[in-house]
Amino acid sequence: MSEIARIILDGKEYELPVITGSENEKAIDISKLRSTTGYITLDPGFKNTGSTESAITFLDGEKGILRYRGYPIEQLAEKASFLEVAYLLIYGDLPNIQELDYFRGSIAQHTLVHEDMKRFFAAYPNGAHPMGMLSAMIASLSTFYPESQNPNRPFKDIELTMHRIIAKLPTLAAQAYKFTMGHPIMYPKNDLSYTANFLNQMFGLPTTNYEVDPVIDDALDKLLILHADHEQNCSASTVRIVGSSQANLYSAISAGIAALWGPLHGGANQAVIEMLEKIKNDGGDLQKWVDKAKDKQDSFRLMGFGHRVYKNFDPRARIIKKAADDVLSKLGVNDPVLEIAKKLEEVALKDEYFVERGLYPNVDFYSGIIYRALGIPTDMFTVMFAIGRLPGWIAQWKEMIENNEPIGRPRQVYVGATVRDYRPLNER
Ligand code: SDX
Repeated sequence: MSEIARIILDGKEYELPVITGSENEKAIDISKLRSTTGYITLDPGFKNTGSTESAITFLDGEKGILRYRGYPIEQLAEKASFLEVAYLLIYGDLPNIQELDYFRGSIAQHTLVHEDMKRFFAAYPNGAHPMGMLSAMIASLSTFYPESQNPNRPFKDIELTMHRIIAKLPTLAAQAYKFTMGHPIMYPKNDLSYTANFLNQMFGLPTTNYEVDPVIDDALDKLLILHADHEQNCSASTVRIVGSSQANLYSAISAGIAALWGPLHGGANQAVIEMLEKIKNDGGDLQKWVDKAKDKQDSFRLMGFGHRVYKNFDPRARIIKKAADDVLSKLGVNDPVLEIAKKLEEVALKDEYFVERGLYPNVDFYSGIIYRALGIPTDMFTVMFAIGRLPGWIAQWKEMIENNEPIGRPRQVYVGATVRDYRPLNER
């Protein structure tokens, strides 16, 4: 017998259906609330509101569980490759050998971008942030593929667009970096793996023969897996709502990149390193900065701490913290900022302000330390997050399209001026 919820409004009782998910999560279905009661609900930031029923990623914030299509993140990070995980998220299960070869081969064919896009990069001012360039470049890609504007194309065409974006995002990211450095761009080499191809485009030069360090290649692949999806986070919800208007996938991904840029979201990985550097240069008084983070009169927050869902620990942060030790020791890198990060975590987690609010290190707290050890510049950290999150965004968009979800258009409660007449200028 299906569960119901009862509410009493203006003395009248209403019954609302209760939805139970495959992990026994419960939701009250309010899709007919306004038409039956005249009421809507209000939930700024959607902290208590589900936007969809999704089969892609499961999080349990209390138990620190993260699974992509049922597979635990710990196993995928340990055993899978990023492209295997991208296939899993988008198509619904791990690929067999033929499926992975097809997917890898299709992506390898589309890594080049139109030569005209070099002129776009050349027009940006010195010091342009790569996230600003990347969001614009991905939206601009749609102009080279006008057929992608048609929302009702056969799946094969939609699949080609998905593969094109996965193939071209690292190329555009590396080109953005090369333009900021004033270096010649490096073209993709499709005999390299997805991550090695990106590293070669980032750090290779026409004058030298860049050898991809397997330690760096493996660490990057693992980091991309850890960032690949995270259910209805801010940027994924942005991709879904933009896609719900039947805007093309390039535009939806471009919007997701823009949302990710915010320091409260993916931009936190850059903000964490800048914060740790500031603490180091300020003399390393950790308690002082923890106290600043607690002070409501002070806008300072402990970047990389806290999460909307995880209230015990972010499983990704645990994996990345361990990987940071491994990667830095394998590369022989001694980064004082890693020690500051570990001590800051220790001090904060002894403080009841953080413990009672369930504020623990999130995915962004340690990731920047690894990116830095890999030689990736700070303002490219969120670009790395975007490259990792791309298959998740695509999977979320594809699920929204396949479920024929309606255009996203929330209601509101109006609290402004009630009706009044226009007054001529000389009477105001
Ligand atoms: C990501 O959603 C996702 O899944 C995101 C993500 C993904 O994979 O897509 O996991 C990636 O975005 C990780 C989060 C990266 N952002 C940061 O590290 C920025 C710092 N953290 C915060 O700003 C904050 O914790 C959020 C934005 C992450 C979550 O904010 P919420 O859920 O809206 O919580 P809140 O702001 O209402 O905070 C609750 C309380 C408040 O204090 P009180 O009003 O109860 O007294 O906790 C405090 C906040 O002031 N608080 C912090 C804090 N984070 C929350 N205080 C100090 N430092 C912090 N970092």
